[in-house]
Amino acid sequence: MKKTLRDFDLGGKRVLIRVDFNVPLDKNLNITDDSRIRATLPTIRHALEKGARVILMSHLGRPDGKPVSSMSLSPAAKRLSELLGMEVIQCSDCVGPRVKEELRDLGGRSSVALLENLRFNPDEEKNTPSFAQELAENGDIYINDAFGSSHRAHASIEGVTRFLPSGAGFLLEKEIRYLGEAMQNPQKPFVAILGGSKVSDKIGVVENLIAKVDTIMIGGAMAYTFLKVRGVEIGNSKYEKDKIDLAKKILDKAAAARVEILLPVDHVCVQKVDENAVVKIEGPSISAGWFGVDIGPKTIELFTRQLDSAKTVVWNGPMGIFEMKPFSKGSYEIAEKLANLKGATTVVGGGDTAACVAGFGLGDKMSHISTGGGASLEYLEGKALPGIAALEDK
Ligand code: ADP
Ligand code: 3PG
Ligand code: MG
Repeated sequence: MKKTLRDFDLGGKRVLIRVDFNVPLDKNLNITDDSRIRATLPTIRHALEKGARVILMSHLGRPDGKPVSSMSLSPAAKRLSELLGMEVIQCSDCVGPRVKEELRDLGGRSSVALLENLRFNPDEEKNTPSFAQELAENGDIYINDAFGSSHRAHASIEGVTRFLPSGAGFLLEKEIRYLGEAMQNPQKPFVAILGGSKVSDKIGVVENLIAKVDTIMIGGAMAYTFLKVRGVEIGNSKYEKDKIDLAKKILDKAAAARVEILLPVDHVCVQKVDENAVVKIEGPSISAGWFGVDIGPKTIELFTRQLDSAKTVVWNGPMGIFEMKPFSKGSYEIAEKLANLKGATTVVGGGDTAACVAGFGLGDKMSHISTGGGASLEYLEGKALPGIAALEDK
């Protein structure tokens, strides 16, 4: 068990909190999805209520160690200020004498500052100890609430813990509770739903899940590599030729572990990936010249029926090209089914899957939507995340 926010006396202290405000921005630098900011509010509010001075730090994008104005955290500072209903001091950098000066304006108690993008400095990603120490000088206690970045052994995630007492924020704690419960102590039947674009992105996840689940349903483009192994014609659908052998090994491993693998039995097919393309439903085989872009109605029926009795469900990877409305039905029906599953724990992970479920307006109907993209995948692969490992034990 790691220490958490509750294990520290925060009153009058400077609490340095690593958050993941790496939020999507449009070309006018407006935030298009502020879930990651909202998800850290409980931690920030708790620290403020206890009379702490809150100093937040985050990265945004991949500026490669130099300042890039379009990757400033100022849109995040503005949004946070609106959400908290109080001033958020936007610092000009994350370390250095000027930042010390700016933080002095924080006053005595219950105030918030946001440091500028950590990745404007090359030492963040290099995890340079002197830089981590400089970051640490901004606080008295370090809290990691950046689950989405905890797979990165960077200075603000890992290095900084060597210089300050450290613990987990409420978001990090919640992520570990839901993802951890599912992986270590799931209520059975445990069903995994996997999809998305590539088998190669998810091999570690599939292999790790085989040891834990009762059933794996595979949709999305991932399914076509597996269907190919089973000798099903897939037309022009996206698949990975060089992963056929691996997919075969995975199917054999699942059979040996008596894990049921469900693959699509029909598909929404087009001749050109375009929202306005003519669509036909085919299955299990797909004709030459046609692409599978979503799971078909019989597959939706097969998958949702299997979900009826599930007590734990982990979903990573959309069932189709959900970004295009005509190909989003498979993902929608799965999301809707999970939203209405009684007495089951439903956990959604993966950047695109989380965006897909949020886009359907079903986010708050899931037990937990992870704020991690890469981090939740690594967690589901069973890897130890450096940002969690580095925190102090209770
Ligand atoms: P996550 O980010 O949740 O881990 P992925 O990045 O693996 O998910 O997959 C999401 C992408 O998979 C989406 O952009 C979606 O359009 C794509 N996708 C899903 N099904 C198909 C398909 N049949 N053909 C091509 N792309 C697909
Ligand atoms: C994410 O969006 O997955 C995290 O913020 C980590 O970002 P990174 O992949 O650029 O390290
Ligand atoms: Mg993705």
